[in-house]
Amino acid sequence: MFDRLPQQPQDKILGLMQIFREDPRGDKIDLGVGVYRNAQGVTPVMRAIKAAERRLWEEEQTKAYTALAGTPEFSDAMIGLVLGGAVARDCVAAAATPGGTGALRQAFELIRMASPGAAVWISDPSWPNHASILNHLGMPVKQYRYFDRAAGTVDFEAMCEDISGAAEGDVLLLHGCCHNPTGANLTADEWDAVIDIMTQRRLFPMIDIAYQGFGDGLEEDAAGVRKVASSMPETLIAASCSKNFGIYRERTGIVMAVSQDKARQKLIQTNLAHLNRQNFSFPPDHGARLVSMILTDAALRRDWQEELESVRLGMLALREQLAAELRRRTNSDRYEFIARHRGMFSMTGISPQAVDRLREEHGIYMIGDSRLNIAGLNEETVPILAEALAAIRE
Ligand code: LMR
Repeated sequence: MFDRLPQQPQDKILGLMQIFREDPRGDKIDLGVGVYRNAQGVTPVMRAIKAAERRLWEEEQTKAYTALAGTPEFSDAMIGLVLGGAVARDCVAAAATPGGTGALRQAFELIRMASPGAAVWISDPSWPNHASILNHLGMPVKQYRYFDRAAGTVDFEAMCEDISGAAEGDVLLLHGCCHNPTGANLTADEWDAVIDIMTQRRLFPMIDIAYQGFGDGLEEDAAGVRKVASSMPETLIAASCSKNFGIYRERTGIVMAVSQDKARQKLIQTNLAHLNRQNFSFPPDHGARLVSMILTDAALRRDWQEELESVRLGMLALREQLAAELRRRTNSDRYEFIARHRGMFSMTGISPQAVDRLREEHGIYMIGDSRLNIAGLNEETVPILAEALAAIRE
């Protein structure tokens, strides 16, 4: 039976991780997978997470099952973090999921159940797993142009043109902040314009927010999601705690569905619980419990926010340094967009051949589409990358 299985294409991000591990060069630089690393190249456990884990170890009395949708404390805390007071709590259905990817998967399945045949529009480019999961589920995927590779900015005119062609009831998948892979984000006015188009075309909004706190700040990064959720009749949100709480391997995420009233909220809630039961039964609890503890305890929350803010400012400083080094070495402002991008990633716009040369000749790894992870750099490696990029003139 098993020999009838098809060969699976390798995920380009995870595939690169493997090639990097196998590279024996001591001075290789990993700018591939989206994992935060500090100046020492370590992905630290955040202080507040350590403190919460210590407390949990002392206080936890049982490992018995929680609830299919996870604990209400986690849902309340995450709805507060992502949506603030933008919508009434009793209009939001939510279920804990294994990571942000689990939330995306459950959200897509909910769409398929509610509206079979609806196409999901994703940005071109987008995180590769968006299209991959949708294809796996047999759901129609369409792409809207998003990025001007030469300028390193959002191509907003092209985006509007494409999403204006979506059919009524189609789903528009947006990145809440820190667009992956480009690093280029919508302005407040552009969010408004997208909301207008969604309203006119009767599109259904879905937002993937995996990097809240990595861009302009915790509240600022949620502004687009909150605008959409408070302006549109219904909104689906997939949120991840992997990055902003640094708990990647704990698989902590949440799917939220904002609707118009309590009756609809209840209907969606039972469907989210049902989907969890079908796919994995109960969601992982450990990370979710740590997140709820941190968000509901004033001291832990303050400490977490402080550490997250220093992570964010560190990435911004690296962006500034890289843009300045490139300005000097290329004698041009070609790479200025790196300082304007937000989050972990920037799409540099260099060719696949140049990406290969960076890897082969300089031991610098970035994704084939030219995405680099800013958090893979430090003050010492920024000049090395700048020098290599300048040397690879195209
Ligand atoms: C990334 O984009 O590198 C991260 O989200 C990790 C992943 O799972 O792809």
